Amino acid sequence: MNNAELYKSKNGLQQNDSVYVIENFLNRLKWKSAKNNILDIGSGDGYTLCKILLPKISEKVDKIFGIDISSDMINFSRKEYGNENIIFEQLDIATLDIPVEFYEKFNQIFSFFCLHWVPKQSLAFKNIYEMLKPDGYILLTFWQKIPYTKSTTKWLKQINGDHT
Ligand SMILES: C[S@@+](CC[C@H](N)C(=O)[O-])C[C@H]1O[C@@H](n2cnc3c(N)ncnc32)[C@H](O)[C@@H]1O
Repeated sequence: MNNAELYKSKNGLQQNDSVYVIENFLNRLKWKSAKNNILDIGSGDGYTLCKILLPKISEKVDKIFGIDISSDMINFSRKEYGNENIIFEQLDIATLDIPVEFYEKFNQIFSFFCLHWVPKQSLAFKNIYEMLKPDGYILLTFWQKIPYTKSTTKWLKQINGDHT
């Protein structure tokens, strides 16, 4: 997906489901600091992050980062929503080189409808773990199975807690 304008006009399904997830699961995250650094992985056109999630958490946020593998998505979201506190960076979540400044930086990490597109999922999850602060929380939404990738249900058995 490398066309932000097209994605913006066709993402009703993802937006509805993201609203559902945020309304039903955001309250399970713990906010241990007064001001938190937030990461959204696969932030796309930036709408879900900035227009659905951010209004619900704005009082608790210091800096917000959106990362996406697509340069078009990053350029679009920077233009629409970027400022000194909302920062968009082009990055593959399955990179072997996480920027050093991202290590243990984030109090909460979110991702909406991205991780099922990532073939190297164990590397992606390793990176999420590395970027999360030791007492941080994650809220990840992705399909267990899509026709283009292998099912991920096998490793879901390893997760303690809720996954639906
Ligand atoms: C379906 S869109 C979801 C966008 C946004 N999170 C939303 O809910 O509207 C998936 C996004 O994941 C990004 N993506 C796919 N593979 C990625 C990867 N390996 N690392 C970072 N972003 C990735 C795509 O470029 C795309 O913008």
